[in-house]
Amino acid sequence: MSSPELCILGGTGFIGRHLAARLNRLGRPHRVLSRRPEAPEALRVLPRTEHRRCDVYDEAALRAAFAGCRTVINLVGILHDRDPHGRGFRRAHLELARTVLAAAQDTGVRHLVHMSALNADADRGPSHYLRSKGEAEVYLLTFHGDVALTLLRPSVVFGPGDGFFCRFARLLRLAPGVFLLPGAHARLAPVYVGDLVERTIEAIDRPPAQPRRLALCGPRDGTLLEWVRYTAAVLALRRWILPLPDTLAWPLAAIAQQLPGPPLSLDNLRSLRVPAVCGDAPRQPTAVEDVVPAYLRAGAP
Ligand SMILES: NC(=O)c1ccc[n+]([C@@H]2O[C@H](COP(=O)([O-])OP(=O)(O)OC[C@H]3O[C@@H](n4cnc5c(N)ncnc54)[C@H](OP(=O)(O)O)[C@@H]3O)[C@@H](O)[C@H]2O)c1
Repeated sequence: MSSPELCILGGTGFIGRHLAARLNRLGRPHRVLSRRPEAPEALRVLPRTEHRRCDVYDEAALRAAFAGCRTVINLVGILHDRDPHGRGFRRAHLELARTVLAAAQDTGVRHLVHMSALNADADRGPSHYLRSKGEAEVYLLTFHGDVALTLLRPSVVFGPGDGFFCRFARLLRLAPGVFLLPGAHARLAPVYVGDLVERTIEAIDRPPAQPRRLALCGPRDGTLLEWVRYTAAVLALRRWILPLPDTLAWPLAAIAQQLPGPPLSLDNLRSLRVPAVCGDAPRQPTAVEDVVPAYLRAGAP
């Protein structure tokens, strides 16, 4: 395999696997930098994906790993942090962005494509997640220097293996008959991972002269309640899905966030306070109804 011009951090995750699969279909070699010693099975079978173990917080290790790469794509992100002050969020989002940019500047990387999130806002973000994502954006916009910068800002992302429809499908199957939903009135415009991957590849191929921020939403807005009811309908699960009042949702989240791989946290609930929708901005084409039934009914992992 020729030396890859693309380096991906966080490439073993949900979005990264879809991106790697698409890059393989396009015949484009890339290097995935990961904390894991071994690539997950989904990446191991991809001939143009090189897996390299790397401590992504170690700038020297990143410099070595970036050798030959013209574009770095940073997909690292976390949704949960046990630290009540959000230090884990700041480390994974802000500090890592700083380290990645420093290593990129030193190694002649031309372009950084950074996966942020819709509503990322350093000052007004209602959650540690959104504030730390916003702080990373501010940092990168301020100090990108000669490295071209693209910030991608998706709403919630769906597709086979997602943490949204697939996760609610699992929870609904376990629910006895009534399913009480925290954050039910939050508005979301789910965007298809395939569309996100296409926009990412277009971004890779067109380093902007000035930093570019791109909001990514699917064609339709809906409340979380509507999307979860839709999930139950697709799976023909007869459940009463009802909004859980905030007075109960907050204590439930406080308990749930103590679980391993928590289904919900206080910080998640805070993120849902701002609508993750795009207003008049252009929408991505693929509708939930076009793809979700097939993978939910197939029980995609
Ligand atoms: N999925 C969505 O709905 C959605 C919506 C908006 C924004 N985003 C953003 O899009 C990006 C990718 O999302 P995703 O759903 O693909 O995430 P994901 O499945 O959780 O994967 C993220 C990857 O980041 C690495 N990682 C996780 N925790 C880390 C930590 N503490 N330090 C360093 N690396 C860590 C892991 O790679 P290794 O284990 O290989 O190191 C993991 O595979 C994230 O930045 C996320 O915030 C996602």
